[in-house]
Amino acid sequence: MPGKYLPYGHQSINEDDIRAVLDVLKGEWLTTGPAVESFEAAVAEYAGASYAVSFSSGTAALHGAMHAAGVSPGDCVLVPPLTFAATSNAAVYCGARPLFADISEGSLCLDPLLSEDVCQNAGAPVRALAPVSYAGYPVDLKPFRELASRAGAVLIEDAAHALGASRGEAKVGSEADMTVFSFHPVKHITTAEGGMVVTNSKRFADRMRLFRAHGITKSPGDFVRPYEGPWDNDMTGIGYNYRLSDVASALGQSQLKRIRRFVGRRREIATLYREALAGEGAKDIKLPPDHPGHSYHLFPVWVRPGIRRPVFESLRENGIGVQVHYVPVHLHTYYRERFGFSPGDFPKAEAFSAGEISLPVYTDMEDGDVLFVARTLVGAVARLEAEHAAR
Ligand SMILES: Cc1ncc(COP(=O)(O)O)c(C=O)c1O
Repeated sequence: MPGKYLPYGHQSINEDDIRAVLDVLKGEWLTTGPAVESFEAAVAEYAGASYAVSFSSGTAALHGAMHAAGVSPGDCVLVPPLTFAATSNAAVYCGARPLFADISEGSLCLDPLLSEDVCQNAGAPVRALAPVSYAGYPVDLKPFRELASRAGAVLIEDAAHALGASRGEAKVGSEADMTVFSFHPVKHITTAEGGMVVTNSKRFADRMRLFRAHGITKSPGDFVRPYEGPWDNDMTGIGYNYRLSDVASALGQSQLKRIRRFVGRRREIATLYREALAGEGAKDIKLPPDHPGHSYHLFPVWVRPGIRRPVFESLRENGIGVQVHYVPVHLHTYYRERFGFSPGDFPKAEAFSAGEISLPVYTDMEDGDVLFVARTLVGAVARLEAEHAAR
């Protein structure tokens, strides 16, 4: 509404969340205490996985998953170009080369056939496949599961956008070898910063637990050398301080209790956008692919690239905090300079990115806000296309 700022994403915090955090602050443990384990168990149960390992961010969680998968220097990791740089960066942290394949227009996620081709011509071991469930659209894992078995690769779903999404009866989190979530404030639930990996593999979970805590173990059973006593600890591999705190975990667990409502409201907002952007007046605005299990972290629309900038600016001038998701990863300077990528390498991702605008979607957004965004978008696109036609 005029005078009100509508961000593209925003947390929803209530009194229960505040109480949960205060309870931890008044207790014994601020970090790596019972709230961490309890939150991990709750996310594992929700996502339908046996184990969950929390991290200080979704990025750290991706790094942990790549490490657990054994990604090492000389390896390749398949990632889409249409994602946040963190997906690909996590492979680079492990010394691997990112292997991009273009997206499919029907899902905006990695195209399985192109992925197959790219993996066959990788020229180095493909250690992991990391499809991203872009915007909350649950990427079809079946072809990637088959490709992973053929390539001997580990399947890591980057579901930073897709907590609460599902494929039929299966929750996102129950199917890949490891599934990564992010709890940044714009996501479905938040811990401020935070992330988690869910998996059915104890081996992966154990590796990630070590990795997030300096690679240091205190468990006698994990010692390679003789255990000397209760003071003893041994660093058996390199690790980081990637732990999530009890304070953050308490917030996350409190938030998770409302996940059905959070995802449900996002779906309602998507439906409202679809209805409001369905008419003749919105013919120049393309809508994102739908899916019954979509969890709508984002609602990305697409306009003709020639008008994207003025449309974007016009929305911002009206207090609508639109964003672009994403500048394709391979076009970032670092990726061009280090790996030699250039424009034209992944034309579908580039074409989509050139016209993309993410409209606001968050739980506390009101119906009137959604209609205001849709009306303002339709007005801006119609005006700019008319000006273009008159030139
Ligand atoms: C697809 C994707 N992967 C990973 C991340 C990293 O998550 P975090 O911001 O929690 O580090 C993000 C963050 O937005 C993301 O969008």
